[in-house]
Amino acid sequence: MRDLPPTVDRLVASILDQFPVHRGFLEQALDGATAEELDRLGRYLDFCIGKGLTPDYLAESYLTILGDTLDEQLYFREHDHYRHSSFADVAESVYHDRDYMDRYMYGLAISTFLWPNHVEMSRFLRRSLPKEKRGRYLEVGPGHGFLLLTAVEVGAFDDYLAVDLSAASVEQTRTIVEHFHPDAPARVEQRDFLTADDLQPGSFDAVVMGEVLEHVEHPEVFLRRIAELAKPDAFVFVTTCVNAPAVDHIYLWRTTDELEAMIAGSGLSIVEPLRLPYEGRSLEESRAEALPINVAYVLAPD
Ligand SMILES: C[S@@+](CC[C@H](N)C(=O)[O-])C[C@H]1O[C@@H](n2cnc3c(N)ncnc32)[C@H](O)[C@@H]1O
Repeated sequence: MRDLPPTVDRLVASILDQFPVHRGFLEQALDGATAEELDRLGRYLDFCIGKGLTPDYLAESYLTILGDTLDEQLYFREHDHYRHSSFADVAESVYHDRDYMDRYMYGLAISTFLWPNHVEMSRFLRRSLPKEKRGRYLEVGPGHGFLLLTAVEVGAFDDYLAVDLSAASVEQTRTIVEHFHPDAPARVEQRDFLTADDLQPGSFDAVVMGEVLEHVEHPEVFLRRIAELAKPDAFVFVTTCVNAPAVDHIYLWRTTDELEAMIAGSGLSIVEPLRLPYEGRSLEESRAEALPINVAYVLAPD
């Protein structure tokens, strides 16, 4: 394995200790990472350890989401639908379970450096986010906080607001931004995006929402609200997935066409799509076999 920052090395050792068959996958993932990404992962892990977390806990968090996702993939293969379809089904076991939600968000953050499609979606945001645009940036469901951190680092917005309904996510996002950019004009609030009725229509210059739509019962309502809140020339960035089960994915799109028709019907147009097939398969094969497809879009209000 290539030379790694010390805390990445410790994380990898702990993951392999607990799950040795993951070696090949991890080696490939780390070999494909840029030096800057490895450095970023190392600094993230240092930050987590500074908060009192241990490499073993972070490795367990990562393995929790890996194991749970594989379980849900088996369920999906057998039943041809996600295990849950209502928010109430997953609210108690995920969003309101502080311990699980914490592990889920730490694990998901680590996956953004290790899972090829998550890596590609992070890179896509980093390169497509306007670098000089000013004004107001809104993020929905920041979770672990990495997209907001990216926006603060590469963007030049005057004001950053992130809303998330989970206390664990708010804490993780707030602390990551305060740690790395204590002077950033950023606020993180614990609120439901749909009922946050003081957000003014046509007032945001950027709206980013990563991996939220598949977690909600009515994703079209979220898309329409984004279209309503965005200024006509706003940068809009959304990620989600098709046929991609996870413990708390409740809205199932079976094709990218179905999803993209929903986007088009919500007052948003696709400016640039990124459609990522299941690892080792083409998009056509993933479609034919109903395998997970990750998608990210730069959108524009109609
Ligand atoms: C899977 S995480 C996404 C984390 C991160 N944005 C990413 O791209 O990986 C989904 C987040 O959306 C939040 N969320 C779900 N429904 C929401 C709503 N109605 N309003 C605000 N946040 C919501 C959850 O609490 C969770 O933190």
